[in-house]
Amino acid sequence: MIELLRKRRSIRVYEDRNIEPEKIEILKEALLRSPSSRNINPWEFIFVDSKELLKKLSKVKEHGSEFLKDAALGIIVCGDEKRSDVWVEDCSIASIIVQMVAQSINVGSCWIQIRNRMHNKDITSEAYIQGLFTIPQNMKVESVVSMGYPAEKKPGVPKEKLQFNKIRINRW
Ligand SMILES: Cc1cc2nc3c(=O)[nH]c(=O)nc-3n(C[C@H](O)[C@H](O)[C@H](O)COP(=O)(O)O)c2cc1C
Repeated sequence: MIELLRKRRSIRVYEDRNIEPEKIEILKEALLRSPSSRNINPWEFIFVDSKELLKKLSKVKEHGSEFLKDAALGIIVCGDEKRSDVWVEDCSIASIIVQMVAQSINVGSCWIQIRNRMHNKDITSEAYIQGLFTIPQNMKVESVVSMGYPAEKKPGVPKEKLQFNKIRINRW
């Protein structure tokens, strides 16, 4: 795991190539193995691989989501606020776990923030996605994780650059 983390970077440029069905199955398994508070599993996921839908989804925000149109896959991560008051945490854990597992099978990915973001000045990013996919109101949208084979090379962050001053021992 630490080796994966040492190499981990957000990948936003993708090859024009599908992700094999066996790998998609691994991604599904990773999501469903994510831990959740009280094991409630309040999350639900929409796998989007239609080019037309990915193009529409790439417009969910004015900035920071445009690369979705060239991704092989977008995973919409939603959580049921009626079932859990910590759906944000549960959905965040699932989002990062699927990113790490994607990396372990050479698939690049990037988290696209949806919660608390706007599609335009009147419509939230969440409402835009709920409308596009007819998602019920109680299903809150945390993120979309874009995925595809990397068409950009990014080195991992060197250890010397890590902010070790953020770690304190036994006191603030
Ligand atoms: C909660 C969260 C929200 C993020 N939202 C976006 C986003 O909306 N668009 C985007 O391009 N990247 C997004 N990112 C990726 C970050 O910009 C990226 O992780 C950060 O700049 C560090 O770069 P690295 O992942 O390559 O190390 C998000 C990451 C996290 C953890």
